[in-house]
Amino acid sequence: MDSLEQLVASAVQDFMAAQDDAAALENAKAKYLGKTGQITELMKGLGKLDPEQRKAQGALINAAKGQIEAALTARRDALADAQMQTRLNAEAIDVSLPGRGRAGGGLHPVMRTWERVEEIFRSIGFDVADGPEIENDWTNFTALNSPENHPARSMQDTFYIEGDDSDGKPLLLRTHTSPMQVRYARSHTPPIKVIAPGRTYRVDSDATHSPMFHQVEGLWIAEDISFADLKGVYLNFVKAFFETDDLQVRFRPSYFPFTEPSAEIDIAFGSGPLKGRWLEVSGSGQVHPSVVRNFGLDPERFIGFAFGSGLERLTMLRYGISDLRLFYEGDLRFLKQFN
Ligand code: PHE
Repeated sequence: MDSLEQLVASAVQDFMAAQDDAAALENAKAKYLGKTGQITELMKGLGKLDPEQRKAQGALINAAKGQIEAALTARRDALADAQMQTRLNAEAIDVSLPGRGRAGGGLHPVMRTWERVEEIFRSIGFDVADGPEIENDWTNFTALNSPENHPARSMQDTFYIEGDDSDGKPLLLRTHTSPMQVRYARSHTPPIKVIAPGRTYRVDSDATHSPMFHQVEGLWIAEDISFADLKGVYLNFVKAFFETDDLQVRFRPSYFPFTEPSAEIDIAFGSGPLKGRWLEVSGSGQVHPSVVRNFGLDPERFIGFAFGSGLERLTMLRYGISDLRLFYEGDLRFLKQFN
């Protein structure tokens, strides 16, 4: 019976040697319990024995077979357990980690400026208006005194839209918010006191120009609104916007077809990193009499001022941002700083 014991021992050894791959264990099983396996062969041999011996020998072989089967099952379970453990380790989930959550959104810095500008002008009695970004040629140019051959109308400067308006005139993406002067004035009666912030478009792209940018238009028209009012309003605005009284405003003669006289508005801070430097923040002027006429008003009776300021520009000065492109890259490391 030594040989049966050896057989069991050798089977156990073979099973233990089978590692993580299931085929190795099945091969080892076949060697003992398969059709031509050693146990099976021993069983076949029983037929040659006489009944007494067959019974005794059969019982011994069956016992050995049982041991081998038990060893096989144990090894199978052990391998399955080990495999499961490996998987659990690999796919470990640390249930104590905080959830990823959903990060709260925040306002873009240019939108913060937009809201701030609205708040300041509302506080001094200005209405806030909104208008189309797809404009017609008349409102964007002609009504604002830009003749048909004005360079600003060239295909290079402006995005034109396929098709045209109901009068067969070209449609384009507004190049400034100034058409809102016309739209608002033609649909309201004086006194007109409004700002119109919004998106504007030009065929332009570098460190200081983006094809899409933001402006805020201002318009105040009544019977007695002068350049002095423009000065007062704009000085009040920049002081509120930059939260300091320590700044100066200067009006530098300039040209716009729709204002006469026209001026660039520059500011200079009395302290801080930009101290003493004149920085351009806005175009402005007294609304040209022909434009007042295009508003549907009598220029002998109504007078006033308009200005158009870049919201990106105001934002860059307020936060000390040097590259305009940062606003449009969507880099969260930049954007998060404002929220
Ligand atoms: N629309 C002008 C621009 O885009 C700015 C401006 C607005 C100038 C109103 C004067 C009056 O440059």
